[in-house]
Amino acid sequence: MQKSLSIYNFKPNEVIASIGASSGVWEIWFASQVENLTFYLQDIDPLNCNQDEINYGINYYEKLLQKPISGKFIPIIGTQSKTNLPEEIFDKILIINSLHEFEMPEFILQDIHTGLKSDGKLFIEEQVAKSSGEIHEGCGKRLFTENELVEILNKCGFELIDRHFKDDGVLIFKIKPLEINLFEGKISRS
Ligand SMILES: C[S@@+](CC[C@H](N)C(=O)[O-])C[C@H]1O[C@@H](n2cnc3c(N)ncnc32)[C@H](O)[C@@H]1O
Repeated sequence: MQKSLSIYNFKPNEVIASIGASSGVWEIWFASQVENLTFYLQDIDPLNCNQDEINYGINYYEKLLQKPISGKFIPIIGTQSKTNLPEEIFDKILIINSLHEFEMPEFILQDIHTGLKSDGKLFIEEQVAKSSGEIHEGCGKRLFTENELVEILNKCGFELIDRHFKDDGVLIFKIKPLEINLFEGKISRS
């Protein structure tokens, strides 16, 4: 988590969304390290992504670390094709260990484009496949190769800034939205 924190480089008072956040275990810890972060914790699973589960995590870390956590946490439930996040308010959007689970990643990336401020950044922390077709051991879903991931990002109007290696084939991609949303008028949701 420490390495991720240094790459995400949060600043006090930033507004961040995390997509596929579940109950926000990572994000609550991040908020224990930087003052006054606001996290929109987004997921399709209301059983884990809800205020009770988030409060449980906050209490856990406050006891463990022996200090109050100043962050704000807002659960948002989306669908496979829609994040339901507000537009143009996010300094950063995170996708941690989740991209390979999205059934329609293009739609989610389209919403991320409209969610980010013009100078906002997207971070994808993801295990990448060494060869095309590799399956994630935990969930059985297909992993992206690095090339496949960059290709889908470009297609959806994003540009890779840089990438960092973590352990066990996990990479963190830092990405910026291009000024022109390539999706505009091209894709409609069912
Ligand atoms: C492996 S978990 C990762 C949870 C958390 N980010 C972590 O690293 O501990 C993947 C999460 O993605 C969520 N998910 C799957 N499809 C999604 C979608 N289209 N939009 C948002 N969340 C999704 C799942 O419900 C699950 O909570």
